[in-house]
Amino acid sequence: MMNVEKVKVERMVAGGDAMARLADGRVVFIDGAITGERVAIEITTNKRDFARARIIEILEASAHRVAPPCRFVAAGCGGCGWQHLAIDRQMPTKVAIVGEALRRTAKISEGEIFALVAKGGSVASTAFRTTLRMAVLQDGSLGFRRAASNELVATTECLVGHALLNEIIATARATNTDEVTLRCGASTGERAVWLHDERGRGRIMGLPDDVNVGVEALVHEKVVGVTLRIMMTSFFQSSHAAAELLVETVREAATVEALSGHHGRVIDAYGGVGLFAATLLKPEVPTTLIETSESSCRDAKVNLAEHLRQTRDTASPSQIVRGNVEQWSPVEAGLVLADPARTGLGPQAVSKLVATNAQRIVLVSCDAVAGARDLRLLIDGGYELEKVTVLDLFPHTPHIETVSVLQRKARATR
Ligand SMILES: C[S@@+](CC[C@H](N)C(=O)[O-])C[C@H]1O[C@@H](n2cnc3c(N)ncnc32)[C@H](O)[C@@H]1O
Repeated sequence: MMNVEKVKVERMVAGGDAMARLADGRVVFIDGAITGERVAIEITTNKRDFARARIIEILEASAHRVAPPCRFVAAGCGGCGWQHLAIDRQMPTKVAIVGEALRRTAKISEGEIFALVAKGGSVASTAFRTTLRMAVLQDGSLGFRRAASNELVATTECLVGHALLNEIIATARATNTDEVTLRCGASTGERAVWLHDERGRGRIMGLPDDVNVGVEALVHEKVVGVTLRIMMTSFFQSSHAAAELLVETVREAATVEALSGHHGRVIDAYGGVGLFAATLLKPEVPTTLIETSESSCRDAKVNLAEHLRQTRDTASPSQIVRGNVEQWSPVEAGLVLADPARTGLGPQAVSKLVATNAQRIVLVSCDAVAGARDLRLLIDGGYELEKVTVLDLFPHTPHIETVSVLQRKARATR
């Protein structure tokens, strides 16, 4: 028998679901509902403290509910989880989720949150993504997965995909591989495809002539005037606009003085291909980039070649360190830029970054809750939170990016 209830949505939460209370007082997370809506739901997961549910009927729709702008949502594509929410409500909803994470997880008071959290920029809501990871269907065409499922949905185009990638999606046919990554440089027009098949048997046909294929393929992207090399296996921001917006937000947070090396070495932790170091730091500023990925480190060596060359014979040469931040031997620094993956820093990495004694730490987080946990750890490690800027680099999805800036507290003198 169906377990059905009628509930009123209280708010939207990290991860994108809506939250309401069941008659028995438990919290229920509902996929696809919006703050303020009254919905009839069917419970799909029942736990002691909470439940999960799907909507059976929307009894009172939010004024912010819209028809998904992408036709593949109706076909089941789970690539963008918030296409039912009006685009102008997405940023305010993300700001509210960040505030809630700071209150609950970072234990920051309501009044402080109001003063600390600022709405930053957003990228355009269509045709922005320059990297897409896609699944390969049985007939070789490309598509995405349904939400919370391994079932595949064929998509002949992607609303948020760059036009250069949509040309590939329309005609490509792949075999002997389950997944492909498509990437283009929006500023250079270069594009490439990487087949995720470890045995090297994958093939792809129907590509425009200019597309490079393979694990060694790469594109270049020009960000705030600096050309970066990006291999297919290296991480890069989801779009050209996202990279530029993030760089400018980090620049403002870090301050010109700290970026000029005035307070000492700059640490670019989780540095990737060197996006921040290459665009924000003059070549003479002693820099340490720490990164686990082999291909990203290879890219960073090219992108930071001038930085490495200009400091090579000085007492404080720049370095690219391949390895985990958690295992790194910290050095004294003036500024730390840290941009970890979705899991965030965690206590071990925080202890390494705090051990640099840097005056300023700029933390880029792509998960509101992990970011709030890291801020609490940094505050407890002797830093004061100055500002949290919320960016929307992934419109139509619940993904949230924040740039937080912390200043080392003055030590008490006896
Ligand atoms: C969110 S990306 C940021 C990259 C770069 N800052 C950028 O904006 O392009 C995180 C990067 O951290 C790297 N990474 C993941 N875990 C790591 C760890 N424990 N230590 C160092 N780097 C790590 C990933 O390979 C990835 O390049």
